[in-house]
Parts: sequence; structure tokens; C-alpha cells
Amino acid sequence: MAIIFNEQSKTFKLDTSISSYIIKIYEGGYLLNLYYGRKIPENMIEGFAIRAKNASFSPADSVMGEGDFAPDSAPIEYGCDGAGDFRISAIKVRNHNGDSVTDLRYLSHKIYQGKPFIKDMPASFAEKDEATTLEITTVDKVTNLQVTLVYTVFEALGVMTKSVQIKNNSDKDMFIERAFSLCNDFPKMDFDLISLYGRHYFERKIERRALAHGLQGVESNKGISSHCQNPFVALVAKETDEERGEAYGFNLVYSGNFSALVECDYNDSARLIMGINPNHFSWKLRPAETFYTPEVVCVYSPNGLGEMSRTFHKFYNKHLIKWKRKYEKRPVLINSWEAAYFDINSEKLLDFAVAAKDLGIDMLVMDDGWFGHRNNDKSSLGDWFVNQEKFPDGLTPFIDKVHEIGLKFGIWFEPEMISPDSDLFRAHPDMCVHAKGRAPMLGRTQYVLDVSREDVRDLIWEQLDAILSANKIDYVKWDFNRYISDADSAILPADQKKEFFHRFILGTYDLMNRLTTKYPDILLESCSGGGGRFDPAMLYYSPQIWTSDNTDTIDRLSIQFGTSLCYPASSMGAHVSDYPRAFYGTKADVALWGSFGYELDIRKLTEEQKAEFKGHIAPLLVGLRKSYIHICKWVNFENWRGS
Ligand code: GLA
Repeated sequence: MAIIFNEQSKTFKLDTSISSYIIKIYEGGYLLNLYYGRKIPENMIEGFAIRAKNASFSPADSVMGEGDFAPDSAPIEYGCDGAGDFRISAIKVRNHNGDSVTDLRYLSHKIYQGKPFIKDMPASFAEKDEATTLEITTVDKVTNLQVTLVYTVFEALGVMTKSVQIKNNSDKDMFIERAFSLCNDFPKMDFDLISLYGRHYFERKIERRALAHGLQGVESNKGISSHCQNPFVALVAKETDEERGEAYGFNLVYSGNFSALVECDYNDSARLIMGINPNHFSWKLRPAETFYTPEVVCVYSPNGLGEMSRTFHKFYNKHLIKWKRKYEKRPVLINSWEAAYFDINSEKLLDFAVAAKDLGIDMLVMDDGWFGHRNNDKSSLGDWFVNQEKFPDGLTPFIDKVHEIGLKFGIWFEPEMISPDSDLFRAHPDMCVHAKGRAPMLGRTQYVLDVSREDVRDLIWEQLDAILSANKIDYVKWDFNRYISDADSAILPADQKKEFFHRFILGTYDLMNRLTTKYPDILLESCSGGGGRFDPAMLYYSPQIWTSDNTDTIDRLSIQFGTSLCYPASSMGAHVSDYPRAFYGTKADVALWGSFGYELDIRKLTEEQKAEFKGHIAPLLVGLRKSYIHICKWVNFENWRGS
């Protein structure tokens, strides 16, 4: 059994083939984290005494008395706010008295085979015999707040997931002010923190820094996970490199505002918390209601970053990406964006299709510019009907012709956006995200559509569904091209305004769910100005994600290398473009590392270039990895990450 409860020592031992994780029910019902690391045998647990640490000045529980134990210096499993633990807390709930002291103690637990779903949220999944779950329920006896910590271990892969359920068991409203998915107290702080930072056009560069006393970490408050910080962190030993040393990797399955913070305290221990960013967040929890946090995927590797990365890759391929055809060879595509930008029409795209067929390309993707009266980025988002000037016979005969030529067909949408110059905005100006009395900010000349509202989602889904049901569409590129300001929904009451960001992302998930449920064969590629929403939650719906708007081969080396720290190669959309800094052969070597395609005007290729392009596609896998290693070495990345 991968999870054992020892009645005598009151300890839970959660094992994978590689790691052990130990929780103890301590006196007074405090839950303590005794160990996370290399797999250890059962009889070693007794060695983990709760060491008395410096806690002078830190108060103790009035029943237990001021002995060796103070919450502030103990390895608390899920840190609460206001009850003697002064470190960054994982949870804070304001009760009907108005105070937000939260003090959770053990109530009960259950252990079972398999893994539960998380309500309304993407999460990893498993067959009954692939995972074991432990749920520990804790309670605040004064407020009747009930918090269940959910752990699932995937024995075969060295992976554990954590999420939390927060239930109001009282008869009064409560307000959740912090609800982190993970809290992990490490007994030492001599780790390096690795994160993935960047910006639009240069996502997921690897940054490594030593932990220092105080607070450090990464966050997004832009409404999506963002180009600037990824919801991934690793804590690694000083000596850890690609092949050696301990690495603990944490990836939040969430596409909204997140926070991953580490606090190193006066005892030189380190607490990591990860989850929804409490900034601009609160949640009204009515009696009997439950709030579900997203989950964190935790990977422990005793053998360096390479093993950590490969574990994430295998795990995501098997247990997170839900697309049923995920193991099939992905179609090689030609995308119209860098080939023609907004200047597309049926004639030009059919010429692309003919040229593409000749080269051995599998699919034509019609990117931005096909709908409303969109000829630049200033109009028509929200008007998802075909532009009659560019497609005089309509969409269906055009798509049919693409299929007749022998290609699959893909289409671009940006469902969560609305242009001020659109029929949708003229009819429903209140449907854009805005705060009362303020003109909302523009980003790429567009507003954000308030998909936290069900009526808005219905309206947009009706349009998408009309196109998808009337045509044979094999692929959808789902874009999101600005961050969210003026965060508010016209329909939320004043005491729920801070629910907006989370409700927005739940709205996105609902829309993606509608698409992937009704059209399970469609290959969904998500995108956000390249890789602004490259996170595990998107992977659940979309097996591939456009990695970056930057298609320069040399820049792509480090972007793809950083991305591969936790995301599998197959998830990275990677195209050969006309960006000048490399030969086509090198461009192809680097793009073939991900889910491959072209983004250039293939009508203009010379005969010689055509022959070369045919060669890119034919031998797909063999030999490519070798060239990638070669290129990585050339730019001084010593290793590659495979899978
Ligand atoms: C974003 C995407 C691009 C392209 C454009 C279209 O920038 O990342 O690939 O789809 O939008 O406007």
C-alpha cells in the first residue's frame, strides 16, 4: 500500500517508488510534516523526533502549555493565520465575528485507491490501481471551518499531488482570504530556488538563486499565469545539476493569478506555499458550501533536474493531458499568421494548401483575420462569423476544398476577448470586464470579455459551436492576447468583487470543457501571445501550447529549454518561420523538438528549398534529438532533457 497510517506513532507515510512523505498527528491535533525526500523504510520514522527549536517570544497553545512546542517553530503541515504561527500562512478565513484567526486541528482521515476529481477544475487523473489518496480532515473548533487536505501518490512515477477543500460547517457566512494548495515546511534552507521568468517574446528563462532569510518567490497578478513568471518552482540542493543532487519540483495546475512563496525563518527552516494569489482574492463561503483549490504536482528527484523534468513529462503525458488521441503523431501544420498576418482570403489560403500538400504538410491553420471585418488588430473580436469579402462563398465550401486538397483544417479564435469595434460590444457594452464608473483600459485595442458570467459564456459558445458544428474542423488555436485590468464583473455584489479573477478562470475552464467535451477529436492548441498561458491547467485541455511568438531559432533554444524543465516536448508548438537568424535546416532541427509546423509563405519557396522542406518532415524522429543535443552544446546548454 502506498499510503500507510501507523496507529501507534500516529503517522501517515506516503510512498512512491522514489520518495517518502511523512505527516504526524501531534499532541493537540496539530498536523506536522516530518519528512519529504528519498524513499525510506517504515522503521526509520521513529528517528524523526520533533526537534525543540528556538521559539522564545512565540506563544503556545493554552491547553498544551508552554513547553517545547510552539506552532511558530514547528513543521506545520498546513500553516494557519493568526494562531501562533507567524510565518506566511496557507489559509486565512474571516469568520462572522470579523476576526480571521484560523486554527486547524486533526479531525479524521480516509485512505483509498484512485484519485478524486476537483470540482470545476482541471486536475490530473488516474485509474484506481495507479494512485492512492489520503484525505485528512481538520477543523477549527471555534468557527466550524472544516479543511480537508487531499494527497494522491502515483507510486510508479515518484509524483504526489496536493489540493485542499474548504468547507463552511457553521450557519454563518465566512470569507476565505487565503487558500493555498500546498504548504511544505522544510527543516533546512540551504536550497537554491529555481523559477521560470520572462516576458512576451521571451518566456520561461531559467533563474536560479540561493534562498535567503525572509520572503522570496514568484507570482502573477495579471489574470493569467503569464509570460513573466510560470507557476513552477523547484527547490534544489546547492550541488544539484542535470544529473546529480536532490530536486523538489512544484507545478500548480492553474491558469490564473498564482503565488509561490518561500519564507526562511529564524530557525533556518524554509516554508514553501503555492496556490491562488491572495492578492485580489477572497471568496464568500456560505453555510454548507465547499471551496476547492487547484492542485499542485510535486515531483521529487534524487538524481538531478533531468530526472525531475522527465518525471513531469511522463506524468503530464499520462495523467494530465486528457485528449484521447494524445499519443498519435501530431499533424505537421502550416499556419497563416507569419505567412500572411491579416492579409488572408480563400484564394491565398487555398494556394497555401496546395503548396503544403506538395511538401507533405498535414494541416492548414487559418489564423487571425478571417472573421467580422478584421483587417488589423483593431476590430471584430466577439464577432465570430466569416468575413464575406475574404471568403465570398462562405466558410464551409472553403474548408471543404482544403479537405479535398488532402489537408486537415484548423481555425483561430480568441473567445475571451471583445473589440470595442464589434457588433457584440455595440449590443452588450456591459459584457466587457470593467469597474463601475471607469473606462476600462485597452490592450492590443481590445477589452476582456467577462467570461465569469454564464450568460456571456453561453453567447460566445453559441457562436463557436455554430462554426464547429457546421464544418469539419480538426484543430482549434485558442488565443488570449492581453492581461486583465479593471478586474470586476458587473453582476458581482460588493462583498464578492474579489472573487472575480478566480471566477474568470473557472469560466475559461467551462468554455474549454464545452469545446473538448462536444468535440473530443479536435486538437486544441492554446496560446496567449505565444506562451502567456503555458501552464499545466491548459495542458489538461490542450495537448499543445504555442510556446512563444518569438520564432527566432536561436532565441527558441533557450525558450524551449526552459519550458522543458517541466513541460513535455510534445506540448511545445514550434514552427519554422522566415526569421532570418538561421538556415532552414537549423530552424527545422530546433522546431522539430516540439509539435512541428511552418509559419511562412511556402508559395515562395525555390525548388531547392522545397526539396529541403520535404526532408524536414519525412524522417521526423530519427536523428533529430542528436541534432538538438548538438545545438544545445553549441550554445552551452550541457544537457538535454529527452522525453
Ligand atoms: C497572438 C498569437 C499569434 C497569432 C496572433 C494573431 O499573438 O500568439 O500566434 O495567432 O495572436 O493575432
